[in-house]
Amino acid sequence: MRHDRYQNIPNRLMESHAGQVDGMLLDLGVSSMQLDNASRGFSFTQDGPLDMRMDPTESETAAKLIHRVREDVLREILWKWGEERFARRVARAIIRRREVKPIETTAELARVVAQAVPGSYRHGRIHPATRTFQAIRIAVNRELEELEAFLPSALPLLKEGGRMAVISFHSLEDRIVKRAFRDFKQQGLGVILTKKPIEASEAEAGRNPRARSAKLRVFMKEIR
Ligand SMILES: C[S@@+](CC[C@H](N)C(=O)[O-])C[C@H]1O[C@@H](n2cnc3c(N)ncnc32)[C@H](O)[C@@H]1O
Repeated sequence: MRHDRYQNIPNRLMESHAGQVDGMLLDLGVSSMQLDNASRGFSFTQDGPLDMRMDPTESETAAKLIHRVREDVLREILWKWGEERFARRVARAIIRRREVKPIETTAELARVVAQAVPGSYRHGRIHPATRTFQAIRIAVNRELEELEAFLPSALPLLKEGGRMAVISFHSLEDRIVKRAFRDFKQQGLGVILTKKPIEASEAEAGRNPRARSAKLRVFMKEIR
């Protein structure tokens, strides 16, 4: 077990002289342990410090990020990484609020978001702060940039016939994995073993609702 970022896996493998590996499994995103621990500040259902760092040794918390960035940058983050259709309103509300008093807890941020969106959205299928929290989490942990950079650097680490399996939890992650595997295939580097992503059965999603959005894709490196 090594505590490190995906992007350092090639170096770690080199150092350990493990050479190439037979398989890799990436289980993306945030863990239930992180989500369920209020003091990690990932969840809008429990009040805690507005942190959201997957790696607590990293510097910038979510509270620092939303107090540092300009309104247009915040809007872009909410739109791009949360697909939040009220990104403009939510960004404006956060900026207005931080001018009066810093937003320091998850409950405060969830409240600011809920007050900024229309009533119909406030009482919609998902909590109104879901997309904002996802977007800010992705920004704090540079999740998509890391994934995009890591996938191409990981393929040389696989033995011929080796498999790379990736479990993603939302469409932004899955799009990056799908595109990377397609590019690998077009470069003649191997085959995509999952024509369609493997998803949780109704029974599994019933047992573990967080598995409902999971998508597993697998790529096999070519045997020359
Ligand atoms: C979905 S969880 C994995 C859960 C794990 N399979 C389990 O069963 O407990 C994803 C984990 O990857 C970590 N993670 C996310 N992005 C990372 C990155 N760029 N580098 C290293 N770890 C990362 C998160 O902190 C989180 O603990």
